[in-house]
Amino acid sequence: MRAGGAALFGLWAACVVAAPEARSDPVVFRHVLDNSPLEVKPRPNEVETEAVKRFKETGQNPYAGEEAALAEGKKLYQTNCQACHLPDGSGRIGPSLIDGSWKYERVATDVGMFEIIYGGASGAMQSFSRRGMTQDQILKVMAYVRSLKKS
Ligand code: HEC
Repeated sequence: MRAGGAALFGLWAACVVAAPEARSDPVVFRHVLDNSPLEVKPRPNEVETEAVKRFKETGQNPYAGEEAALAEGKKLYQTNCQACHLPDGSGRIGPSLIDGSWKYERVATDVGMFEIIYGGASGAMQSFSRRGMTQDQILKVMAYVRSLKKS
C-alpha cells in the first residue's frame, strides 16, 4: 500500500511539474443574450483573413480607422444595417449606435460588438453570420460603426 501511495505521489508530482506555463487564452466569444458559448467559425468557402486571425488573438479590430476598410464597411452598413439603425446610426427599429450608451454594455468592446453582429440578439437583430456575412465583413462594418459621428 505504502509503495503504491508513493508511486501515485510521484505521478502527481510529475504532472504538476510538467503542467504547461500559463499563457493568455485566445478570445472566447459568448452570445449576448445568455452568455452561452458562441462558436465563431468560417462560413463554407470562407478563408480567414489576417485581420480576422489577429482579432481572434487580440480582441481588437485591426481595421479600426483604416480608410479602405471603412469604405467597404460603409457599403456593408448601407446594405445590411441602415434600414433599422438609420444612415447616421441614430436608430429607429434598432437602437442608436452613436449616442454613447449601449443596451448591451459589452458592445463598447470590439469583442462585444462582434458577438452581437455575428450571433444576433433579440427581435429584429438577427445573426449576420447566418445571413451570409463573413467574419472579415463584420470587422469592416464594425470599423464603420465606430467611425460614425457621436451626437
Ligand atoms: C431588421 C432590423 C435590424 C437590422 C437590419 C440590424 N439591426 Fe442591429 N439591432 C436591431 C435591434 C432591434 C436591436 C436591439 C436588440 C435587442 O434589444 O436585443 C439591435 C441592436 C444592435 C446593436 C447593439 C446596440 C446596443 O445598444 O447594445 C448593435 C451594435 C447593432 N444592432 C448593430 C447592427 C449592425 C452593425 C447591423 C448590420 C450588420 C445591424 N445592427 C442590423 C435591429 C436591427
